[in-house]
Amino acid sequence: MKVSIAIDGPAAAGKSTVAKIVAKRLNITYIDTGAMYRAYTWYCLENGINCQDEAACVAVIDKVHIELLENEVVLCNGTDVTEVIREPYVSSQVSYIASYKDIRLALVDLQREMARNKSVIMDGRDIGTYVLPDADIKIYQIASVEERATRRYDENVQKGIDCTLESVEEDVRKRDYIDSHRDFAPLKPAPDSILIDTSFMSVEEVVNTIIDIVNKKVKGESVNE
Ligand code: DC
Repeated sequence: MKVSIAIDGPAAAGKSTVAKIVAKRLNITYIDTGAMYRAYTWYCLENGINCQDEAACVAVIDKVHIELLENEVVLCNGTDVTEVIREPYVSSQVSYIASYKDIRLALVDLQREMARNKSVIMDGRDIGTYVLPDADIKIYQIASVEERATRRYDENVQKGIDCTLESVEEDVRKRDYIDSHRDFAPLKPAPDSILIDTSFMSVEEVVNTIIDIVNKKVKGESVNE
């Protein structure tokens, strides 16, 4: 049977780490919607566009072509931006881009198209509330801001990305604020979502919790495409 799983929650709550593993275990497609907003942000920065200038960012909408490949590679106009979109200079601007309605509408179209007719696990901020309101399973994944900042800082250090714990925590707080206060499709839990607080859980525990929820929902049926 076909199943769709939405995972929403604030920045650095571990959504993508967990979603990638669940996707592999269930053999379904993982769609990282944050990567799309990041790729758009990268394009603007590369082209000297101020990310706080909504009109200028929206004006290039037809020039930005974003693709998510099955192997988690992100392409923007054919350039592999998988790594660079995780850099702090992109992270610090992405919430502005994600607050522009016209850009969201275009990327949401793409996201829905990617989820059409197949089993997916999609993570973001508005998946359960707006992108896939009929998702079979909706998870809202949270963790304390300190825990999220520490996890993201450790991840950055491993990838060789230059930053401090303080700067990462500041960025996480700023993005949480902008993402949850924007007018269009803000970050918030869908009323029918299941809350998972991962502050004191390992990745494995979170993955198993979600797989248990899926198994209960589909009662042992295969969820492959
Ligand atoms: O999940 P992430 O950190 O890669 O997301 C990057 C930014 O994109 C985040 O600050 C909020 C925004 N975003 C969004 O508004 N809606 C989504 N569905 C996914 C991400």
